[in-house]
Amino acid sequence: MSYGARIAGLGSYVPETVVTNHDLAQVMDTSHEWIVERSGIEERRWVKGGEQGNYDLAVPAAREAIAEAGLEPEDIGCIIYATLSPDHYFPGSGVFLGRELGIIGVPAYDIRQQCSGFVYGLEMAQALIANGQYEHILLVGSETHSPGLDKSTRGRTISVLFGDGAGAAVLSRTQADAPNRILASEVHADGGGAEDLWMPYPSFRQPEIMTHADLDAGRQYPTMEGQKVFKNAVKRMPEVVRSVLESQQLGLEDLDMLIPHQANLRINEMVAKLLRLPPEKVHNNIQKYGNTTAATIPLCLKEARDLGRVGPGDLVCCVAFGAGFTWGAVLLRL
Ligand SMILES: CC(C)(COP(=O)(O)OP(=O)(O)OC[C@H]1O[C@@H](n2cnc3c(N)ncnc32)[C@H](O)[C@@H]1OP(=O)(O)O)[C@@H](O)C(=O)NCCC(=O)NCCS
Repeated sequence: MSYGARIAGLGSYVPETVVTNHDLAQVMDTSHEWIVERSGIEERRWVKGGEQGNYDLAVPAAREAIAEAGLEPEDIGCIIYATLSPDHYFPGSGVFLGRELGIIGVPAYDIRQQCSGFVYGLEMAQALIANGQYEHILLVGSETHSPGLDKSTRGRTISVLFGDGAGAAVLSRTQADAPNRILASEVHADGGGAEDLWMPYPSFRQPEIMTHADLDAGRQYPTMEGQKVFKNAVKRMPEVVRSVLESQQLGLEDLDMLIPHQANLRINEMVAKLLRLPPEKVHNNIQKYGNTTAATIPLCLKEARDLGRVGPGDLVCCVAFGAGFTWGAVLLRL
């Protein structure tokens, strides 16, 4: 027996503190103009250091998604938690989320595909529902980047881009041929780009995972070959969007909305241009949140839905590209 999987509920949560580009210009050599021109970002949310951790953002997002699905936490059969900024190195944040929701015994997968994490999670959830293993899966993407960013001028190329937040979806079983379900997914990885966007330390490859010298050198901060990431993103994202559509004998003209990962507004403008999609068929919110990595797709999808830009019956494609490199797309009818 095979089933389909549909999005039954969405939830989101962002920390209260708004950090504008002008705020960043107070602590590093940057400017509002530089950040907006290169990335489109105007502000982002950052946790107040030490007051909120990753799963604290995930809990309200998860509760909202579960309530919207008309369910109780006890109805959830499995948690999939996507993040690159877990509360602790181990255990993963999924077990903490299960504990906070009071669903002891429910399995928790933690996945590490960075900006593609939610798209990878949607593919996993769909497969685990399709084979009958679970009826309802809670998928969360949550990030607390801010404590891990170099907020001095040394780190400005990266630090201005990232924001904190969480998004969640409940995926529920439906008929295999139901019209409203995940229709197709495709995910990829190319480790050739692993060192082009990474956080090298702490590292179990080293005799000691982290030394004082490593800390002094700032090796605990992410580094990025920005232009290489940019070029790969604008190649891979259109490619995988076309591919998931073709797998269903659908074309770009059939698409109602593209929900792209929000790494850089310039990337998304180029992707839209390459796909010849008009602005009304692409939803962007990077201006307000920056790049929230695994949280981005659910934050963006839910916002588009809440604003009435997408609704029941619409054909939506979520597409992401990020560290690894990893990338992928999910095609669904809401
Ligand atoms: C990061 C990114 C915005 C940088 O834009 P860019 O045009 O490549 O800029 P560069 O890194 O070449 O830097 C240009 C100049 O601006 C400076 N600069 C970098 N960050 C700055 C900042 N925050 N404020 C002001 N100046 C900055 C650089 O030092 C450099 O100065 P120089 O010309 O004197 O050497 C861009 O490469 C990008 O968005 N890449 C993809 C990012 C991405 O997708 N990341 C996540 C993937 S999930």
